[in-house]
Amino acid sequence: MLLGLGSPGLLQGIADDAQDVSCGGDDLTDRANRVAIVTGAARGIGRASALRLAKSGHAVAVVDLLLREAEQTAADIRSLGVEALVIEADVTSLTVAEQSVAHIVDRLGRVDVLVNNAGCTMSKGLLEITEAEWNATIDVNLKSFFCWCRAAAPKMLAQGGGRIVNISSLNAITGGVTRAVSKFAYSAAKAGVLGMTKSLAKELAPTVAVNAILPGIIRTDINATQVAAREAELVGSILMGRLGAVDDIASLVNYLAAEPNMFMTGQHLVVDGGQWIT
Ligand SMILES: NC(=O)c1ccc[n+]([C@@H]2O[C@H](COP(=O)([O-])OP(=O)(O)OC[C@H]3O[C@@H](n4cnc5c(N)ncnc54)[C@H](O)[C@@H]3O)[C@@H](O)[C@H]2O)c1
Repeated sequence: MLLGLGSPGLLQGIADDAQDVSCGGDDLTDRANRVAIVTGAARGIGRASALRLAKSGHAVAVVDLLLREAEQTAADIRSLGVEALVIEADVTSLTVAEQSVAHIVDRLGRVDVLVNNAGCTMSKGLLEITEAEWNATIDVNLKSFFCWCRAAAPKMLAQGGGRIVNISSLNAITGGVTRAVSKFAYSAAKAGVLGMTKSLAKELAPTVAVNAILPGIIRTDINATQVAAREAELVGSILMGRLGAVDDIASLVNYLAAEPNMFMTGQHLVVDGGQWIT
């Protein structure tokens, strides 16, 4: 188990006197004490979202397998004057998620926001993929979202408020915009996230708002090879004339996580520069 709870060097920047302050449910009146968990926050969209949430006053638990990069995200958050806690963990285990959330609450006081972001790509078609690759794709891109919702939602309900933001993908509704690369397993997982988002919005209302973001092509490490091979073609398919940047997603994450008096739940928002309009 990679969860590093209690291990020297893994848990950093933690105030000993993290407060257990009620922020009055979801009205967000006491932003200074809000706590966000961001999975896959070592790099890419997760890192940008963690930094954006820190800028709006959230202490952030940075969850990832990549310890060195996670520590860099945490250091950058602390340089903003905000608390950060690194959790080195595989997001696909419910036991690890529950232990991690308990530890986060112990050290940071509460959980107001969960951003389910950790993901991995899978570009093998139906006739090439192995059963193990299918299982791994579903585990990282779908099961992990269940694990962290299951672990965090009871805390949010007990506190009287919370926000869950699920990072799905445009592939959830397109199956992959072009035929160049098969995305069927990834698309299945990301579409599952949409169903989960709608159902959990109903189950957790009105206390917890649950929404999903469907990014189009965002320039990160996850797609660097694909983008390098076909950048002009990809940009040509996007009405806004550019690939997405991580901050295009992070700003919406922050809105869904921190906008006071949220009246939106169970929704999914496409952020793709107009690549796919139905
Ligand atoms: N970049 C895009 O074009 C794009 C488009 C649509 C959706 N998305 C989604 O956005 C999310 C973030 O992707 P990104 O582009 O920033 O990719 P990325 O590869 O840069 O970041 C993903 C992060 O998740 C972490 N991660 C992966 N598996 C993990 C595991 N089992 N346990 C813990 N951490 C794990 C990685 O270590 C990495 O830090 C993913 O869910 C991805 O599917 C990305």
